[in-house]
Amino acid sequence: MNGFLTLTNTKKHSYGQVFNDEPLLFKNSTNGTVTSFSITFFFAITPEHKNKGSHGMAFVISPTRGIPGASADQYLGIFNDTNNGKSSNQIIAVELDIHKDDEFGDIDDNHVGININGMRSIVSAPASYYDHEGQLRNLSLISGDPIRVTILYSQEEKQLSVFLSPAEKTNLLKRPLLLLDQDLSPYLLEEMYVGFAASTGSVGAIHYLWTFYVFLSSAVPNLDFFIPKFPTYPKSESQVKRTVLVTCLTLALFVALATSAFSLFFYRRHKKVKEVLEEWEIQCGPHRFAYKELFQATKGFKDKQLLGKGGFGQVFKGTLPGSDAEIAVKRISHDSRQGMHEFLAEISTIGRLRHSNLVRLQGYCRYKEELYLVYDFMPNGSLDKYLYRRANREQLTWDQRFKIIKDIASALCYLHHDWVQVVIHRDIKPANVLIDHQMNARLGDFGLAKLYDQGFDPQTFSVAGTFGYIAPELIRSGRATTGTDVYAFGLFMLEVSCGRRLIEPRAATNEVVLAEWTLNRWENGDILEAANERLCEEHNREQVELVLKLGVLCSHQAAGVRPDMSKVVRILNCDSQLPDNLLDIVKAENVRMWSETSERVLDVPTSQGSIGTLTFTEPFTSHGR
Ligand SMILES: *[C@@H]1O[C@H](CO)[C@@H](O)[C@H](O)[C@H]1NC(C)=O
Ligand SMILES: *[C@@H]1O[C@H](CO)[C@@H](O)[C@H](O)[C@H]1NC(C)=O
Ligand SMILES: *[C@@H]1O[C@H](CO)[C@@H](O)[C@H](O)[C@H]1NC(C)=O
Ligand SMILES: *[C@@H]1O[C@H](CO)[C@@H](O)[C@H](O)[C@H]1NC(C)=O
Ligand SMILES: *[C@@H]1O[C@H](CO)[C@@H](O)[C@H](O)[C@H]1NC(C)=O
Repeated sequence: MNGFLTLTNTKKHSYGQVFNDEPLLFKNSTNGTVTSFSITFFFAITPEHKNKGSHGMAFVISPTRGIPGASADQYLGIFNDTNNGKSSNQIIAVELDIHKDDEFGDIDDNHVGININGMRSIVSAPASYYDHEGQLRNLSLISGDPIRVTILYSQEEKQLSVFLSPAEKTNLLKRPLLLLDQDLSPYLLEEMYVGFAASTGSVGAIHYLWTFYVFLSSAVPNLDFFIPKFPTYPKSESQVKRTVLVTCLTLALFVALATSAFSLFFYRRHKKVKEVLEEWEIQCGPHRFAYKELFQATKGFKDKQLLGKGGFGQVFKGTLPGSDAEIAVKRISHDSRQGMHEFLAEISTIGRLRHSNLVRLQGYCRYKEELYLVYDFMPNGSLDKYLYRRANREQLTWDQRFKIIKDIASALCYLHHDWVQVVIHRDIKPANVLIDHQMNARLGDFGLAKLYDQGFDPQTFSVAGTFGYIAPELIRSGRATTGTDVYAFGLFMLEVSCGRRLIEPRAATNEVVLAEWTLNRWENGDILEAANERLCEEHNREQVELVLKLGVLCSHQAAGVRPDMSKVVRILNCDSQLPDNLLDIVKAENVRMWSETSERVLDVPTSQGSIGTLTFTEPFTSHGR
């Protein structure tokens, strides 16, 4: 098995086509947005007569799987005399032509061109490439040597570029041979097929194609490690028969492969890629995956597998080869050692954390400039989808919401208090909470987690987190603490129980900021008015009220007023109660705190503007027990 297929055999005036089985989503039907894409393939053309061209081949994007009624010879198996140039074709092609057809304005008999709906190229250039020094070098399309082609479309820049080079030359993507400034959206349908066509004329030629690679993003796959080899044109009749046989066999094999061609990369002849092992990697246990495994698991990090994008990278869904185990792979780019070491915390920490309400980190992988973190896959997605899904879908009940709040409180308490080191999460929000199949909530995305040794005064870091969830003192000091996590958790509680976003610009003025609105209702009415009405059924009013009050307290501007997570868990479990004078504590504005072990002295300006002093030793006294 050579991994290639032949588009044409020695037959004259014939053509061949090969298309992907499944269409690709080039355009979003809802909002009409076109995706960027990249295609890389290797090809070779071996002509019957050295130095004498037959006809060429082309990469095509077509509305149909296969192009019916196409002609051979100068039409390259794409168009025919009648439909040539018609906009109804809806075909985008990149031709690799070895024949000069004056009727189509071809520049020479060895050129590359971009065609839309017809044989006349919009832009074209003699086959050549820019080497590493930026020198333009000639390239013969009929040398029989493998040639690498990368076609890149950037929707942001509305540019289609074509790169060509000998197969063994890598990293030549600085300067394209062809550059077309053209928005392709008018030509792209929602779903289109990609494929190749090639034709022969009175002179024969065999067009070989190596498995091709399509990405629905502007990422170009790294294919440095293999260079395909293609056979030469058969000389004698017996060899011809053999080639036909080989062709048939290859085609048969391709049929089997075609289904997976787009999703699986074949890492044949895969040279051992340099994967650097650093000291910490050896020390800190979690399983190290092979890049190949993850690549196969995620079908080459295809866009289709994309689950979402986080602050640091993208998350892909995957299935580990040889098992049914579903995983979520987070890909993080790190181009400096600096960044690398920031993620060290994530790997070495979460790899050892075990809690039923934390998303488990299975392992990781480092490859080139990227770090991959492998997590358990959570089929039901993140909490924000449940909170804000469309009206016709069933909403979360109060009991479910309360359970989610308790689950996350428990996870956070574990991170803050129950582990050998204090782990600050730094980015608590519904999007980072995942729901498993039993509706348990699990805290995920420790992308911002920093590790602090117990009792060790943490260093200053630049502020990280999500707007709206960042505690005021974190903005001032840049220092994340367990208190800043509690602040974010307080807002999280409000968001989950009220079922609305923290900031709702379209709401009435005093309702825009959820935390302020909740406090406003507490002071001037009934705190339950802030909650989702539907949730406040008679039997759970008390629980809703407790969560709202606790949410306001946890998200207090003054860090000293906020309880710690172990306290929060106890209150949620009714093992501890909120203090009676809670509203007084909460209402205290501009609270300044002098921290004296367990005794807290708050400097409170009263409503009249004079300074009063409120002293208490334990603001959250236990009642009842
Ligand atoms: C298309 O866009 C809409 C709105 O942005 C989005 O909700 C939907 O998921 C997108 N569809 C696909 C297939 O990406
Ligand atoms: C359309 O939807 C896609 C998601 O499929 C999104 O990336 C893009 O930003 C959206 N564009 C507009 C104009 O809403
Ligand atoms: C040209 O191709 C179209 C399909 O694109 C087909 O309907 C038509 O019959 C073809 N014409 C000829 C002359 O083959
Ligand atoms: C490259 O090809 C062009 C024609 O396509 C020719 O004019 C030129 O002389 C060639 N250069 C070299 C170095 O062979
Ligand atoms: C969670 O996912 C499972 C399957 O993955 C599905 O059957 C179930 O309906 C989902 N639950 C909710 C509440 O969406």
